[in-house]
Amino acid sequence: MTDLRAALPPARLPKPNDPCWCGSGKKYKKCHSGQDTMLVRAQVSERDAKRIRPGLISPKRPVPAHIQGPDYARTGRPGSREEPDVKSPDVIARMRRACKLAAEVLQEAGKHVRAGVTTDALDAIAHEFCVSRGAYPSPLNYHGFPKSICTSVNEVICHGIPDSRVLEDGDIVNLDITVYLDGVHGDTNATFFVGHVDSESRKLVDVTRECLERGIAAVKPGRPIREIGRAIQVLAEGHGYGVVRAYCGHGIGERFHTSLQIPHVDDPDARTLIEPGMTFTIEPMISLGDWRHRLWDDGWTAVTLDGRRSAQFEHTILVTPTGAEILTQV
Ligand code: MF3
Ligand code: CO
Ligand code: CO
Repeated sequence: MTDLRAALPPARLPKPNDPCWCGSGKKYKKCHSGQDTMLVRAQVSERDAKRIRPGLISPKRPVPAHIQGPDYARTGRPGSREEPDVKSPDVIARMRRACKLAAEVLQEAGKHVRAGVTTDALDAIAHEFCVSRGAYPSPLNYHGFPKSICTSVNEVICHGIPDSRVLEDGDIVNLDITVYLDGVHGDTNATFFVGHVDSESRKLVDVTRECLERGIAAVKPGRPIREIGRAIQVLAEGHGYGVVRAYCGHGIGERFHTSLQIPHVDDPDARTLIEPGMTFTIEPMISLGDWRHRLWDDGWTAVTLDGRRSAQFEHTILVTPTGAEILTQV
């Protein structure tokens, strides 16, 4: 094959005496090795030049005094993570409302995604919508987080801080919305296209959405939590993608994050059995290449180590006697 785009080497190259990645059967050092060095260098420098860089963060947006915030709204430090995994009917009723509102905020902010808009402007739209309906935007001051939503562009995996960066044609951007209404949280996110997005990224986003769907479909009372991650991992890795390990789904209710963790890969330690009445999020982060991450100096923004793109979708779900009900729907 001479079309270099159709015959790109894998993210990790073979060792000199290993078989070549192209399938020729020759040793790598006798085949593509020399050529790859140049190709990979060119790819890496092109990718590096396009990496997202931090912009300016605007001052903290005020929340009207009549809105009841969570414990950390003032202090920045959430209290205990202890909360029953199985919720009372009262908590579930309140979560239905919080989750529906979170889905509405996501839909509203998503409508404003286009080239030329800053992620800070999306934060402002989501913040206003949220407080106009009497809710507190959960990320604001959570462990000191400075904004009301998370905006994660291209190689940013999650927890991107809205800033002065303008969305560009071809970007993908995840908006992660959590609201606190009537004493409980609802958490949801989606990845949006900015203008004309290349087919490789579109497929990544489509498969990531499907990963969330497969994870939700794996929720059945009596099964261990690890089945959720197994379903996600099989699909993602079947496409050659990476599943980010460092961030998991989580129990949610009166606390933003409870101690219950929902890994997105098959984790033998995730032995807790799924029970009706549990509420938790599933929020797979899927990368085109390496699943490993690093943090920016801001202590929040998680990016892929290799600089390739990553996508995410999230729902808060309620376990029913037969499966799962998605709470974060409009
Ligand atoms: N919404 C994120 C989640 O899905 C958490 C954001 S924490 C923040 O769990 F502080 F960055 F907002
Ligand atoms: Co979450
Ligand atoms: Co979230």
